[in-house]
Amino acid sequence: MAISLSSFLISLCLLPAVIADVVVYDFDVSWVYANPDGLANRPVMGINGKWPVPPIVVTKGDQVVVNLKNSLGNESTSLHFHGLYQNGTNHMDGPVGVTQCTVPPGNSFTYNFTVDQPGTYWYHSHNKGQYPDGLRGPFIVNDPESPHKNLYDEEIVLTFSDWYHDFMNELLAGFISISNPSGAEPVPDSSLVNETRDLSVKIEPGKTYLFRIINMGAFAAQYVWFEDHSMSIVEVDGIYTEPTDADMLYIAAAQRYSVLITAKNSTDANFAFVGSMDQDLFDVVPDGLNPNVTGWLVYDDNMDLPEPKEIAEFEPFDDFTLVPDDQEGIYDHVDHSVELTMKMDNLDDGANYAFFNDVTYVSPKVPTLYTVLSTGPNATNPAIYGSNTNQIVLAAGEVVEIILNNDDPGKHPFHLHGHAFQVVYRSDEEAGAYDASVTPSSSFPSTPMRRDTLLVHPNGNIVIRFRADNPGVWLFHCHIEWHVASGLVATVIEDPLGLQKQLNGNIPADHLANCAAGSVPTAGNAAGNTEDLLDLSGENTSPGKIPAGFTARGIVALVFSILAAFIGVAVIAVYGMSEVKNKTH
Ligand code: C2O
Repeated sequence: MAISLSSFLISLCLLPAVIADVVVYDFDVSWVYANPDGLANRPVMGINGKWPVPPIVVTKGDQVVVNLKNSLGNESTSLHFHGLYQNGTNHMDGPVGVTQCTVPPGNSFTYNFTVDQPGTYWYHSHNKGQYPDGLRGPFIVNDPESPHKNLYDEEIVLTFSDWYHDFMNELLAGFISISNPSGAEPVPDSSLVNETRDLSVKIEPGKTYLFRIINMGAFAAQYVWFEDHSMSIVEVDGIYTEPTDADMLYIAAAQRYSVLITAKNSTDANFAFVGSMDQDLFDVVPDGLNPNVTGWLVYDDNMDLPEPKEIAEFEPFDDFTLVPDDQEGIYDHVDHSVELTMKMDNLDDGANYAFFNDVTYVSPKVPTLYTVLSTGPNATNPAIYGSNTNQIVLAAGEVVEIILNNDDPGKHPFHLHGHAFQVVYRSDEEAGAYDASVTPSSSFPSTPMRRDTLLVHPNGNIVIRFRADNPGVWLFHCHIEWHVASGLVATVIEDPLGLQKQLNGNIPADHLANCAAGSVPTAGNAAGNTEDLLDLSGENTSPGKIPAGFTARGIVALVFSILAAFIGVAVIAVYGMSEVKNKTH
């Protein structure tokens, strides 16, 4: 729970709110039961015996301390604070195998960092795709100097999310499996708002509200609209925007929007709002799936809560057109351009994986941050980070461009840790790979929208830019949890020598104790070799490529027939044995 005694004292003394607090949260994570859609009571990952988990609410400039205790008993965990830049505190970012070791059952880990950015964020486990089991909550950074602070009276947080009735570790085992060669993702069972359904939000006539809207889902993007109320977008993923009107938002997994909504002056009706999961993402829509979740702006408790009206089609606002309030100009000179082409394909275990430039991500033996910190001048050599981390080493201060080509018919929300990036281009679907001769950089917007999670359209492309001004090891990944698990992850290693200067000697003992508890090495290259940093023998790698001459379908059929043959042999063996048994009777 939040202990914010100093903020209480500050408000008593009416000191300026710019004085920073230390805000402490003690989070004891354990299984509790919940039934948020009314369809299935199940164990969920709660905090301090409760679920939904509490929001973290701080003021810009605050120091935040989160004391995590893992009381799950059967699963390890971690926390990531999505969208926070963690400037100077890369070791507090949270992804397991990247900036820390996993926190085993019974162990603790303290996150301690200063928040120097305003806006709407969220926190979630960054271990083994487990946050959809419930370990996900809002992270709100209030800003006494917000350019929009005079435009609203109150703020309300709305989270939208998909919900599964089964445990993620079981769903993941079935997803990455020879029995799912097409890589069909498990379809959510329900859609939730504020981790429930049929939510009433009390509204007072005439007031203007800031709605902070977060998609905390695992998979589904959500169309979100408020009947008979229009929205004015003022923030996107922590970046203030010029107020921009919208009737409907498309919020991909992990994205956030703040919108102003002005209440009507009368109280003679209540109004529905809807989150509707984008069913284009689902390979097969199960019979009876309700993709929608409904809430109401309640002006009068005694009035009806009307059913939402049918809509003819989804026409969401295009976030590409947003303009940041600070008018930051496009980085028009690029120092380092990286092209990543993503696709899905099978490996020789028959399961379906996701690839950047033909490499699927596999967690290294040594968390990548610890490789940076233990390899001295060699930390700038990409080779030491291994064969399956999709490593990109950046030099301090350079302007970086990532061109992402989506060689897949799905929509994917890409997230970069440690930065908000400029969105300089996004193609329509089916455009294929980015082609500078067709779309030169001279056609890019002069004040591009910035955010930390961006949707790429089916078989389309995006171009993003940022400055390498934040030393750290930062993941770049699709925020669909299924695709994190199947390897759609790259590792950005930004200014490794600067990172050594910041953090060598400053990794807290509890971080290293968690590694020791799991026997995870904390020095050397990706394979844990400290002598010859170019010797990666023993590193973690993916299953092998399908041999040339075989098609993916062919290999899957082959593996199936081999498996079937084994089953056949086993069946004969069992028959044989029972015959023998029978004879002895
Ligand atoms: Cu919400 Cu790797 O992040």
